[in-house]
Amino acid sequence: MGPRRLRFTEGIRRLVAEVDLSPRHLVWPLFVKEEGEKEGISSMPGVFRHPLKDLPALGEEALEAGLGGVILFGVLPDSEKDPLGRGAYHPEGIVQRAIRTLKRHHPELLVIADTCLCEYTDHGHCGVVREGRMGFYVDNEASLDLLAQTALSQAEAGADVVAPSAMMDGQVRAIREALDRGGFAHVPVLSYAVKYASSFYGPFREAAASAPRFGDRAGYQMDPRGGLWDALWEAQLDDLEGADLLMVKPALPYLDVLAELKRRFSKPLAAYQVSGEYAMLKAAALAGYLDERRAVLESLYALRRAGAQVILTYYAPQASAWLRESL
Ligand code: PBG
Ligand code: ZN
Repeated sequence: MGPRRLRFTEGIRRLVAEVDLSPRHLVWPLFVKEEGEKEGISSMPGVFRHPLKDLPALGEEALEAGLGGVILFGVLPDSEKDPLGRGAYHPEGIVQRAIRTLKRHHPELLVIADTCLCEYTDHGHCGVVREGRMGFYVDNEASLDLLAQTALSQAEAGADVVAPSAMMDGQVRAIREALDRGGFAHVPVLSYAVKYASSFYGPFREAAASAPRFGDRAGYQMDPRGGLWDALWEAQLDDLEGADLLMVKPALPYLDVLAELKRRFSKPLAAYQVSGEYAMLKAAALAGYLDERRAVLESLYALRRAGAQVILTYYAPQASAWLRESL
């Protein structure tokens, strides 16, 4: 007999298992809106847009589950959006208020702020849109200032980590400089370094009402057909610009990229199991096609095995409960 000897009992399987997954590895994405009651998201059963007033209870839930932290996304009514995404960097913006509320009730909860403009711009793009010779384009330099302002206002509100996701060139450096100048040299940057232009963000855009009104994000997010050169270039730039953690997004379709970054970079890596990955698992589970618990944990183990220290997942509280049951 060969390797099967080490699979004969749960006792021996458990002894030789190499990959560990604990609640502390998981970060829970939360959609936050100003007021009203919590609302479901049709493409993401079990995920909600939460009003500010529910945040203390959600923070409690995250702490009780032993999660690594939460990451916040703002949801604005269309009437409050504008071309420059002012809601992203307003001191009383939705995410700034959410951070203050969470940190006031739960100072020990790690709060990450997603730093982007698309949830706050009326056109839905991640930066400043201009009319060019070949149609619209997103102005890189103009966007950097606004992203830096956004990160600074999030740090001022009490964010423990800022997470730029706009895919503008130089955004990590711009944010690092703004934080350092503003007295937040101690606040780490979790960079969405390798972020593909993915169909798997569809449900998120419904949740955050952040779909582009025209065009798409292919002019700034990465081409899924890209080679490893693209991913390594992006990761290397963010590394040199001072990113403290590097993220790959989406997660499961890009495990090869994650594994390669693990070999090449000496920084903690994060993987984002995005809305579409959640939607696939949830839909198959609801249809009775998959055993949800096993499929979800298997996916998360795969991310840990490929090298993710941190996993962002809408399943965070549920996965934490499953992990605890199986102890
Ligand atoms: C904002 C942002 C997006 C996601 C995270 N931050 C949407 C996008 O880039 O279109 C997607 C997360 C998910 O799908 O779960 N830039
Ligand atoms: Zn964006």
